[in-house]
Amino acid sequence: MNGRQRRLNRILNKKTGRSLVIAVDHGMALGAMTGIVDIAKTIRDLDALNKIDCWLMTKGVYVHAFDPAGDPGVILRASGGATIAGPDLTREGLTATVKEALHLGTDAMATSAFIGSDFEHETLINMAALAGKCRKWDMPLLGVIGLGKTNEDKKKDPKFIALASRVGAEHGADIIKTYYTETDFDKVVAGCPVPVMIAGGPKCESDLDTLKMIHGALQGGAKGIVMGRNVWQSPHPAALLSAVYGLIHENMNVTEAAELLAHGIAGE
Ligand code: 5RP
Repeated sequence: MNGRQRRLNRILNKKTGRSLVIAVDHGMALGAMTGIVDIAKTIRDLDALNKIDCWLMTKGVYVHAFDPAGDPGVILRASGGATIAGPDLTREGLTATVKEALHLGTDAMATSAFIGSDFEHETLINMAALAGKCRKWDMPLLGVIGLGKTNEDKKKDPKFIALASRVGAEHGADIIKTYYTETDFDKVVAGCPVPVMIAGGPKCESDLDTLKMIHGALQGGAKGIVMGRNVWQSPHPAALLSAVYGLIHENMNVTEAAELLAHGIAGE
C-alpha cells in the first residue's frame, strides 16, 4: 500500500473497480445553478442515499458547504479563474495547491485542459505541472478534458475525444474525465493508458437517456462517471442515483436500471 493507492481506493470502488462521482464544481464559473443553489442541501440529501463513491468540488464548497452523512471521497477542483461573465471560459489557471489538498484531506485533485482551444497550451502546461507536484505527494490527479465553445461540435467525435483523452494522460493525469461518444467509445478507452470516466455534458433530454449514455460508456470500458447536471437537475435525483448505481456497481442493463428508476419514482 502507498498513499496514492490508498487515495485511489477512495475513488474507484475496490470491489467493482468503478466509480460514481458526482460533480458539484459548476458554480466556480457558472454561479448558482438550478439543482445546486443550496449546494449544502444537495450534497447532504444525495450523500445520504449512500450511493456516491466520491464528489468533485472546489475548495470553497468543501470548506463552507460539505457536511455529508457518510464518508465519501473528494476530488478537489484545482483549476478555475474564468467565468461566463469573462472573455473566455477556457482561460483557466491553477486555483489550489497540493499542500491545500493535503491540509483539507481530499483524496485527489482535478484540473482542466481545453484541447483545441486558444488556451490549450496554458491548460496543458498547468496539468503537467500539477501532475508533477501531485506525484511527489502521492495525490492522484483527475484530468478534466474540456473543448471550449469553438470545438463544441467535436464532443461527439471519437477521434477527437480519443486524442484529447490520450493527451491528458500523457500530461500526467491518473484518471481522465471526458465526453461520451456514441460511436467508437471503446477506441477512446483503448488509446488511454489510465481509467476513463465520462462527464454529462449538457443535460440529457430524459433520465432514460442518461441511463443509456452511462450504460454505453461502461460497455465501452469506462470506469464510471463524473457527472453533475444529469443527476442533480433530474426531476427525480434520488431514484436516478439508485438506477445509476445499479448500472455502475451492479452491472444492470438499461432495462433493469429503468425499472429501478420507475420503482423509485413510484415510491416518492
Ligand atoms: C463543470 C465541470 C463538471 O465537473 C463536469 O462538466 C461534469 O458535470 P456535468 O455532468 O454537469 O457536465 O467541469 O465545470
